[in-house]
Amino acid sequence: MKINILTLYPEMFPGCLGYSLAGKALADRKVVLNVVNIRDFATDNYKSVDDTPFGGGAGMVMKREVLDAAIKSVYQTGPIYYLSPRGEVFSQETAKKWADTDSEMTFLCGRFEGIDERVIQKWYIQEISIGDFVLSGGEPALIAMLDAMIRLLPSVMGNSDSAVEESFANNLLEYPQYTKPQNWEGISVPEVLLSGHHENIRKWRLEQSQILTKTRRPDLWTKYLANQQ
Ligand SMILES: C[S@@+](CC[C@H](N)C(=O)[O-])C[C@H]1O[C@@H](n2cnc3c(N)ncnc32)[C@H](O)[C@@H]1O
Repeated sequence: MKINILTLYPEMFPGCLGYSLAGKALADRKVVLNVVNIRDFATDNYKSVDDTPFGGGAGMVMKREVLDAAIKSVYQTGPIYYLSPRGEVFSQETAKKWADTDSEMTFLCGRFEGIDERVIQKWYIQEISIGDFVLSGGEPALIAMLDAMIRLLPSVMGNSDSAVEESFANNLLEYPQYTKPQNWEGISVPEVLLSGHHENIRKWRLEQSQILTKTRRPDLWTKYLANQQ
């Protein structure tokens, strides 16, 4: 899978994607990050990439001709995403969709107050957000999204059951996990997990997931109930 990343801070990549599961996927070239410095496409002597906004107001806007040239330099196929707080909020479902598609993708990381809207229009760019808060740039958001996606690639996650069981897979949060010893500082592992009775363990885990989801995430609980009908 080839991922084009357009950024003013190429040194931020691979960052923490260089470790653990994602790091192995990059080392094995199951995923290739093609990181491009947007500033390389600036045309003036000052290498400027931003300008003042029409209509006035605070901050600067990334210039259309610089972004356009940067996109042209890498784009071959697949969707282009702009990391943006205005975008559709990224979710486990999106991570799964990207991992299953396994197509080339291009990501544009914004800085300053964002980018000239016409670039979004010209390239049919989709906007994607990490959540309802404002970062100073798209890079940290993209790293989180790529981490979530890369670990779901069929060739990357070792035990495919992990993805089926974990949080959000069925709109449920994951049940509590324990490892040895059975008793630690007076806190014991629930008896049922020591029973070896697979059906009882499955029921206990489901019940715990349901309790956690209902109390912590009423929004997910509503979706879960709707899917059960
Ligand atoms: C300071 S922000 C610009 C915020 C913009 N003026 C607004 O109010 O929507 C600079 C850049 O950070 C990135 N960014 C900020 N928050 C983000 C979020 N929640 N999800 C994804 N990217 C984000 C975007 O690429 C954005 O262009």
